[in-house]
Amino acid sequence: MSTPRTAVVTGSASGMGAATRTRLESEGWRVVGVDLRDQEIEADLGTAAGREHAIEEIGAASDGRLDALVTWAGLGGLPGRPGSLLASVNYFGTVALLEGCRPFLAESNAASCVAIGSNSMTCQPGVPLDVVTACLEGDEPAARAAADAASSIMSYPATKLALTRWARRHAPTTEWAGQGIRLNVVAPGAVETPLLQATRDDPTLGPLLEAFPVPIGRTGTADELAGVVSFLLGPDARYLCGSVLVVDGGTEAALRPDDLPSPM
Ligand code: NAI
Repeated sequence: MSTPRTAVVTGSASGMGAATRTRLESEGWRVVGVDLRDQEIEADLGTAAGREHAIEEIGAASDGRLDALVTWAGLGGLPGRPGSLLASVNYFGTVALLEGCRPFLAESNAASCVAIGSNSMTCQPGVPLDVVTACLEGDEPAARAAADAASSIMSYPATKLALTRWARRHAPTTEWAGQGIRLNVVAPGAVETPLLQATRDDPTLGPLLEAFPVPIGRTGTADELAGVVSFLLGPDARYLCGSVLVVDGGTEAALRPDDLPSPM
C-alpha cells in the first residue's frame, strides 16, 4: 500500500474547512487540521506567535514534507468586529502559513495549495484599496489601522483581494511553480456555513445578503466547495497555476458579465 498523501487544512473545525477535511479523508488523504480549537494543531493565526506555532507543528506532523495546503481559516465582516482582526487572520495569517509551509511543499513531488478568496472581491462595492496596498506591502500595523478605519464589513473583500493578488504574484515564480507547487485561489459566493448564518442573522447585513442574486436559485453547500478543492489538489488540475476559480452560482457573472476576461 502506498503512503497516504498529507494535506494541511486550516479552518478545519467548521464550515467549508470541515467539509474539506471530511472529503479529503474519504479520498485517502491524511489530513492535519489547524484551527483555534478541536483540531490536531490549535493556533490563533491572527497572531505572530500562533502562526509560528502552527508552522512548527505542521513541520513536525508532516516530517517536513507536505503534499497540500488549503487555507480556509478566515473571518467575515460583522458590526462590532474590528477590521484589524480580519487583516491579521484573513491576510497575514494566511500568507504566513503559505510562506512558512513552502519549504515542506517543495519536498513533495506534486504539491498543490488552495488559498481562499471570495466573490465579494469583485461584487462588493467600495473596497478600501489602502487596506489592499498595506497588506501587499507586508505592513501589518498599517493594514490593521486602515482596516479598523474602514470597518470589518468593508475590509473583508480587501483582505481577500490582497490575498488573491499575493497568490497570483507568487504562483508563477521559481519559488512556487518552479518548485512544482501549484497555487490557486477559490473564490466562493454565498455558501451555507456558520459564517454565512452569522451574516444572515445580522439585522443590517441579512437583508443585503438576501438581495444578492444567485442565478442558479440557491446558495452553495460546503460539500460543493470541498469538491472543488479536491479537484484542485488532484491530478486533473495539474495544469492550473495562479487561477482564480469563482464558485458562486453565477453571482459574479450576473453582476460583472463583461469585466472578465480583461484584455491585455
Ligand atoms: P466558518 O466560520 O464556518 O469556518 C471558519 C473557520 O476558521 C472556523 O473554524 C474558525 O475557528 C477558523 N478561524 C477563524 N479565525 C481563526 C484564527 N484566528 N486562527 C485559526 N482559525 C481561525 O466559515 P466558512 O464559511 O467555512 O469560511 C471559510 C472561508 O471561506 C473563510 O476564509 C471565508 O472568508 C471564506 N468564504 C466564505 C463564504 C461563505 O459564504 N460562507 C463566502 C466566501 C468566502
